[in-house]
Amino acid sequence: SALNTLVVAIDGPSGSGKSSVSMETARRLDAQFLDTGAMYRAATWLCLEQGIDLTSTDASTKQLIIDTVTAGQLELSTDPDVERVVMNGTDITEAIRSERVSQNVSAVAGIHEVRQFLIAQQRAIITNAGRIVAEGRDITTVVARDAEARILLTASEEVRLARRGLQLNTTATESAEGELASSYSEEDLKKIVTERDKKDSATTSFTEAADGVDTVDSTELDFGQTVEAVLNSVAHQVAAK
Ligand code: DC
Repeated sequence: SALNTLVVAIDGPSGSGKSSVSMETARRLDAQFLDTGAMYRAATWLCLEQGIDLTSTDASTKQLIIDTVTAGQLELSTDPDVERVVMNGTDITEAIRSERVSQNVSAVAGIHEVRQFLIAQQRAIITNAGRIVAEGRDITTVVARDAEARILLTASEEVRLARRGLQLNTTATESAEGELASSYSEEDLKKIVTERDKKDSATTSFTEAADGVDTVDSTELDFGQTVEAVLNSVAHQVAAK
């Protein structure tokens, strides 16, 4: 029913702690969870798996990307306790977190038709769920502009670098493929993070909160405090409606 509907939209750059904070927020609100970045990553994984040259800017390559993505059968768990991404029957939950996918995702996410296709899927998932926390880069501004609560989660560049570094180095240690070095220098990290921010900002604008979007700055907050701040913002926004 309409009373049970609660859509929480959360945007933010990489390293803001957005995914884990959104997941915990969903648990606390007894809501489902949608990681839209995982959808762009899954689309990118499929293109790479099909051998598409994502560095090419040919019109034919662009069409091939659109055809490939729109033909892909994606299954995505919206249970905040179950991380599971399946593409055409293959479990790619781990594979979509590889640096290869991270480095290539902007070529796919930058295509208008790809975004329109995935946005339609995201809106269907949100409508179906009723109660859901959806996170990404354009959720507060495009995908769920009419959400009951909209939040931009930020953190200083320094803190985001440190958090991304932890993440990358954890991935590297756990990677069985040995595709990554065991640790990144501070300089490499800065390059990786700032380049991804730059690529991301070419397709979506998330550095400034849009009208009516509440900013939660996690620079000085630990994980638990950030979740509390997000839950507080949700409560305030819902009460004001
Ligand atoms: O949040 P993430 O790092 O998993 O996102 C992966 C990529 O997908 C990132 O480069 C930006 C892009 N993205 C997007 O363009 N729109 C979204 N709603 C979510 C992610």
